[in-house]
Amino acid sequence: MSEEHEERIVSAEAQPGEDEETIRPRTLDEYIGQDGLKENLKIYIKAAKLRNEALDHVLLYGPPGLGKTTLSHIIANEMGSRIRITSGPSIGKAGDLASLLSILEPGDVLFIDEIHRLPKMIEEILYPAMEDFELDIMVGGEGGTGRSVRLDLPPFTLVGATTRAGDLSAPLRDRFGIISKLDYYTQEQLVLIVRRSARVLSVTIEDDAVAEIAKRSRGTPRIANRLLRRIRDFAQILNDGNVTKEVAVQALERLHVDELGLDEVDIRYLKGLIERYHGGPVGLEALANAISEETTTLEDVYEPYLIQIGMVNRTSRGRVATEKAYAHLGIPLVGRLF
Ligand code: ADE
Repeated sequence: MSEEHEERIVSAEAQPGEDEETIRPRTLDEYIGQDGLKENLKIYIKAAKLRNEALDHVLLYGPPGLGKTTLSHIIANEMGSRIRITSGPSIGKAGDLASLLSILEPGDVLFIDEIHRLPKMIEEILYPAMEDFELDIMVGGEGGTGRSVRLDLPPFTLVGATTRAGDLSAPLRDRFGIISKLDYYTQEQLVLIVRRSARVLSVTIEDDAVAEIAKRSRGTPRIANRLLRRIRDFAQILNDGNVTKEVAVQALERLHVDELGLDEVDIRYLKGLIERYHGGPVGLEALANAISEETTTLEDVYEPYLIQIGMVNRTSRGRVATEKAYAHLGIPLVGRLF
């Protein structure tokens, strides 16, 4: 394995900006929310360290932006281990994964983002690697003469992240000892996160402005932190850097984020559903075509929150807008039966 290859795989990921690095909590104690998972992880990590073992493999699933990547870094940090980062779509060949596995050191964390997008053939390399810390590789192979060679791997922890746990094959899912779903954050938790991020970024911000950001962040810390950064820009240019509620509201309007945190895509989704399909039921594909969005984006990113806040129902006959969606868009509910 050449250094160059390692570099290519590891740096294939988007690197977070400097702010992202400083905002990101580094320990479980600094991490806000997901309390059940956090408390359990503390126990598992303590126990694994006492036994001088690698932590069991961890599968984290849930909507994007809730902290799966952050948690994988925290797990490595709390275990005192290094982390290697890759993602399902960036592993195209068996050799890519074999290279990554073969450079692991005892206790390392291997983070695979979007693990549901690993090709099936490559997934199969993971089974013996996860279960017995063994790597089967083919050597030779000219005219079917290749043979399989088994290499021992050091004990390591695979942390897999996915927005679609249902798309994982059963054999892969069964090899994770710790499986946890991340939930949307409450407004109170988002207030704490925005306050912490503002402190880390040295932003002066009024409590009312913090509450406004928390309310409009769709239960998602990544969105809260992104809005905070944009609002900081507006405050810097328009208000000597002070984030007041007025500046925050003005910025949020200019960012087309409404009082419930819905953005332009959410609104097009709801309007498409109501105006074009009379509130549904309509199949996801037809709706996605009508509003020119990818079905996977709608399914993974937009719908989970619209369903969570009771604007949309997913039925066996398709998507349906609720009364709350009509009310939010100010569209009268004439003749509509629910
Ligand atoms: N920044 C992003 N997510 C966070 C979390 N869960 N806790 C603290 N800071 C965060």
